[in-house]
Amino acid sequence: MFSERVLSGMRPTGSLHLGHYHGVLKNWVKLQSEFPCLFFVADWHALTTHYETPEVIEQNVWDMVVDWLAAGVDPSQATLFIQSRVPEHAELHLLLSMSTPLGWLERVPTYKDQQEKLADKDLATYGFLGYPLLQSADILIYRASQVPVGEDQVPHIELTREVARRFNHIYGRETGFEEKALEAAKKLGSKRMKLYLDLRDRFQEQGDEQALEQAQAMLNDWQGLSLGDRERLFGYLEGGRKLILAEPKALLTEASRMPGLDGQKMSKSYNNTIALRETDESVTTKIRRMPTDPSRVRRTDVGDPARCPVWQLHEVYSNDSVKDWASAGCKSAGIGCLECKQPIIDAVIAELKPMRERAQQYLEDPALVRNVISDGCEKARELAHETMRDVREAMGLSYT
Ligand code: TRP
Ligand code: SF4
Repeated sequence: MFSERVLSGMRPTGSLHLGHYHGVLKNWVKLQSEFPCLFFVADWHALTTHYETPEVIEQNVWDMVVDWLAAGVDPSQATLFIQSRVPEHAELHLLLSMSTPLGWLERVPTYKDQQEKLADKDLATYGFLGYPLLQSADILIYRASQVPVGEDQVPHIELTREVARRFNHIYGRETGFEEKALEAAKKLGSKRMKLYLDLRDRFQEQGDEQALEQAQAMLNDWQGLSLGDRERLFGYLEGGRKLILAEPKALLTEASRMPGLDGQKMSKSYNNTIALRETDESVTTKIRRMPTDPSRVRRTDVGDPARCPVWQLHEVYSNDSVKDWASAGCKSAGIGCLECKQPIIDAVIAELKPMRERAQQYLEDPALVRNVISDGCEKARELAHETMRDVREAMGLSYT
């Protein structure tokens, strides 16, 4: 429903590394030029698991936002904000909790998985059970159509779709709905009304998804409708209820398994990362110290790239001719490991250079970052207000 809008959030885990860049941020940078995008810091989500150590969260929030900006997320294109500064997320979470069956939350795979994985923390809490519903509120409050996430988050988007459907089913009821929808259709003008009704028939009778999409696009382009009529017309296309909340789609981010310094996936918990704001010296040292094929003890021993974590970095950073050079040199002992590593060192340094430069101005003047976030929060609140007005009205909470 409504126009295309992309939304995604990240928990404040502190300084970001190349794994975040290749796995998430590069994609955000691409999306921001294609769609209206909202990106936010999920600080309440961080508290669901770190409620005993809130002091780490604040510094992490600002470090992370600086890293987003360093990576090229551009506040003149995308809206950047902090979840807790838009308290309407909490209001919608509460209101959605009224109608969300407990079993839906207990069945979300991350619930049991994370409790087992983080066994040192007591996660038998109300907040942790509600984690995915809070995420649903994050998404639904902006009527986001696309949510870029990794595979592990797909069940949360599925839950969000079900929550939206149930909400519309319960609260989109209206006496005389069909008559009101037909009245609203007249406001499209007779030519568009006929097309709207034809497309609706094609979807309802033959399940023609294309017809549905065409009708939705037409409604999106048509400005002369009140919100109530819009919700009726969108709802009438699909059935007998107003659509107050929009069902989002997961925009699956290709799993980029950015290898870390030891060949495992790059992750803070494996201590094998290169940070986005790492210095050239530190990048050089870290890569020079990387383990290589264990059978290459001496310079004269031949090696096998398939058994070397450095090779995995060539796969990310090197073109075919560099890869051919490294592979042949390794197998024939024609090059040493430090030589083999040099093109990667150069490539990582070149990749990080513009990021450090962008970060510099924000580190020198933290007020700039605060301003980016204040502006973003303000825009986000405006959008959130619109949705909440409809939600409150639908739930009988708009006393005048
Ligand atoms: N749960 C997400 C993660 O761990 C973070 C998140 C919170 C999020 N709210 C969201 C992602 C809304 C997308 C949309 O990565
Ligand atoms: Fe690894 Fe390169 Fe050394 Fe071969 S030459 S073992 S690929 S670092």
